[in-house]
Amino acid sequence: MTEHQARPEATILTAVTEMFGIRLPVVAGGLQWLANAEYVAAAGRAGIIGFITAASLPGLDELRAEIRKCRDLCDGAPFGVNVSMLPKLIEGDRTHQVIDVICDEGVRFVETSGRNPEPYLPTLKGAGIKVLHKVPAVRYARKAQEVGVDAVSIVGAECGGHPGLDLIGTFVQARMAADLDIPYLIGGGVGTGAQVAAALAMGASGVVIGTRFLVAEEIWAHPDYKRRLIEATERDTELIMGSIRNTTRVLRNDTSATVRELESTLEQISIEDLIPYVAGKVGRGAYETGDWRKGALSVGQSVVFADRVEPLAEIVAGIEAEAMAAIARLDAMVAM
Ligand SMILES: Cc1cc2nc3c(=O)[nH]c(=O)nc-3n(C[C@H](O)[C@H](O)[C@H](O)COP(=O)(O)O)c2cc1C
Repeated sequence: MTEHQARPEATILTAVTEMFGIRLPVVAGGLQWLANAEYVAAAGRAGIIGFITAASLPGLDELRAEIRKCRDLCDGAPFGVNVSMLPKLIEGDRTHQVIDVICDEGVRFVETSGRNPEPYLPTLKGAGIKVLHKVPAVRYARKAQEVGVDAVSIVGAECGGHPGLDLIGTFVQARMAADLDIPYLIGGGVGTGAQVAAALAMGASGVVIGTRFLVAEEIWAHPDYKRRLIEATERDTELIMGSIRNTTRVLRNDTSATVRELESTLEQISIEDLIPYVAGKVGRGAYETGDWRKGALSVGQSVVFADRVEPLAEIVAGIEAEAMAAIARLDAMVAM
């Protein structure tokens, strides 16, 4: 049976549900260190789509093994691979190799981010892969459309991870993007079904979610880290690394305080000054030990919606029910 034939009936039909063969117009975006085969397969089985985060894996053999494991766990449900092209995550040369493995393994969907994916599109398209490119502002979405990606995700200032330099809010971008010709998804602060309905109302074909899913049972991180997220409010994130043009929204902790202090006191600052605090392995250590005070831990404002640890399918079911209720509420408002 192909992945497409296994598609359950869609409850909301959009260009995004059609493109991925999913039931709900929701994409679980790549999560550095966290989006592994178990998590991504859980997304697929829940009726959405997730992306194995290639940069989290030490080498190409491990990536190949993770893809195969995910396919087994998916049981026919769709899945993809995230290729984050921030220079520090994957060097240019390795991106080509990562893409070769993806093509070779017959993966059907790729989420790119961090840089213009244009150099890789001929290979990806040649292999029949659909490319969803993620950008932090509508102006980059227009460029991505021009170079030929299949769809774009546009994330606003509220998002966990990289909101870009413009820091335009999600609500503004959701409507600004409506004149794109390709399907677009909206993200940054989305964690509820009512927001999914709002995004669709504004013209989006779906949403991308990262933060709200961090407390899913299938996320391997330590229970103490998840407990902290559940306690956190919308005020517990902050932006760091703007000084080196790598603005990142993270959980407020000892590391974010130290980095902000360095950013406000050092006259000339470079990544080398910050690396001891923000290096990926420090963050991974926090997920392993549960000591959330250390590390630049990407978290967005929608952490306020993360209220308990539960299977991803239940989080998704809650979002689905709320989206349907929101759509019905709007429908009932129309006077005949
Ligand atoms: C912990 C964490 C790690 C992330 N890692 C990546 C990544 O490696 N590559 C990527 O393209 N996006 C990454 N993102 C961004 C998400 O895929 C998604 O675009 C974003 O979380 C959506 O906004 P939200 O956090 O408000 O839901 C990450 C986000 C979080 C919260």
